[in-house]
Amino acid sequence: MRKGFRSGVIILLTLLLTACGQNAAEETDMTGSTETIQAAVIETAPTDESMESVEGLAVTDREESEPSAEEKIIMKAEFDFETRAVMLNSGYEMPINGLGTYSLHGDECIGSVKCALSNGVRLIDTASAYGNEEEVGQAVREAIEEGIIRREDVFVTTKIYPGDEMKHPAQAIQACIDRLDIGYVDLMLLHHPDPNDVEAYKAMEQFVKEGKIRSIGLSNWYVEELTEFLPQVETVPALIQNEIHPYYQENEVIPYIQDLGIVVQGWYPLGGRGHTAELLGDPVIIEIAKGHGVSSAQVILRWNLQKGVVVILGSSNPDHIKENTEVYHFSLTEDEMARINTLDRGEKHDWY
Ligand SMILES: NC(=O)c1ccc[n+]([C@@H]2O[C@H](COP(=O)([O-])OP(=O)(O)OC[C@H]3O[C@@H](n4cnc5c(N)ncnc54)[C@H](OP(=O)(O)O)[C@@H]3O)[C@@H](O)[C@H]2O)c1
Repeated sequence: MRKGFRSGVIILLTLLLTACGQNAAEETDMTGSTETIQAAVIETAPTDESMESVEGLAVTDREESEPSAEEKIIMKAEFDFETRAVMLNSGYEMPINGLGTYSLHGDECIGSVKCALSNGVRLIDTASAYGNEEEVGQAVREAIEEGIIRREDVFVTTKIYPGDEMKHPAQAIQACIDRLDIGYVDLMLLHHPDPNDVEAYKAMEQFVKEGKIRSIGLSNWYVEELTEFLPQVETVPALIQNEIHPYYQENEVIPYIQDLGIVVQGWYPLGGRGHTAELLGDPVIIEIAKGHGVSSAQVILRWNLQKGVVVILGSSNPDHIKENTEVYHFSLTEDEMARINTLDRGEKHDWY
C-alpha cells in the first residue's frame, strides 16, 4: 500500500495554495468522469521514488532545499477511479471504498471481513472501541494464509478511544497493534477529541517513527476542533473520519479539511443502522438509482466518492458487500450530484 515519492519536495507558495484551495470544490469534476477527484495535500516526501508525474508543480531535492515551516509541501491527492485508491499525505496509498466493522463481532466479523477481501475490498475499518480488532486481525491473517491477499494489499485502520486509552496512549496503541497482530497498522486515528488528545497524537507519531504505524489521523474532528488542534502537532493528519451521508453532508467541513491536505472519510454512509431504510428509500435517491440501473446504496457510495469522500460501509451480508464494490461502472451527472446535495438536513445520526 505504499506508493513512492522520491526524496524530493513539492513547494508551492502559500498564496497559490490559498487561491487554489478556495476553488477546489468548484474545480472538481462532479461527475468524476476525469477519474480524479481533487483534494489538496500538504506533504512530506518520505521515500526514494519518483514523483515526476505530478503535473504543474515544481520539484526540488529535499537535500538541496529543506522547506521552511512556512513553505509547506503541496501536492494534489486524487481519487484514482482506475486503481480505486488515493494517495495520503503520509506517502501511502489507501483504497477509497472499504468495509466498516462497527457492529460486527465473532464469526460474523471474521466472515464479513473475509467476504469483503474475497470481493476485492482492500480497506477495513475497526477500532479499539468496537471490541473486534482480534477478529479483524484473524480474518486478515486467514485471508493471507489462504492466498486471497498479501499483507501489503490490505489497508487496516484502527482507533484509540478517549478516557483511559488517551490517558495512557502508548499502552493503548500497542494493545491495538497486539490485538490486530498483522505486523504494522496502516492507519491509526484518535476516535474523538479528548483532553489528552494532543499527547495521544504525539504518541502515535512516535509509533510512526518506529515503523509500527504507517499513517495517523483523527475522527470526529470538525472545523473548530481542527483549528485548535493542528497548531499543536507536528504531523498533518493523513485522514479525518467524520459522519457524512446525504442527510448530514458537512458541505463546509469537507472542503475545509481537503484544503488542509487531509483526506476525508465518511462514517455512516448509509445513515447508520436504524436510518438506512429511510435513506435508501428516499425518492430522489431511488429515481437516480433507477436511471442508472443500480441500487440506492450504490448511488450514495458513488455520490461520496465523487465528492472526494472515502466510504466505509458496514455490512455482514455477502450480497451487499459485493454490491457495495460495484460503483465504478457508472457516474453521477452534475445535476444528480446537485439533487442529492439538496437532501442535506444537517441531521446527525449519532451524538459525536
Ligand atoms: N469514527 C466513528 O466515530 C464512527 C462512528 C460510526 C461508524 N463508524 C464506521 O463507519 C462504518 C459504517 O457505519 P455503520 O456500519 O454503522 O453504518 P452504515 O454503513 O451507514 O450502515 C450499515 C447498514 O447498512 C446496511 N447495508 C450495507 N450495505 C447495504 C446495501 N448495499 N443495501 C442495503 N443495505 C445495506 C447494513 O446491513 P447488512 O449487514 O444487511 O448489509 C447495515 O445495517 C462502521 O462500521 C465503522 O467502521 C465510525
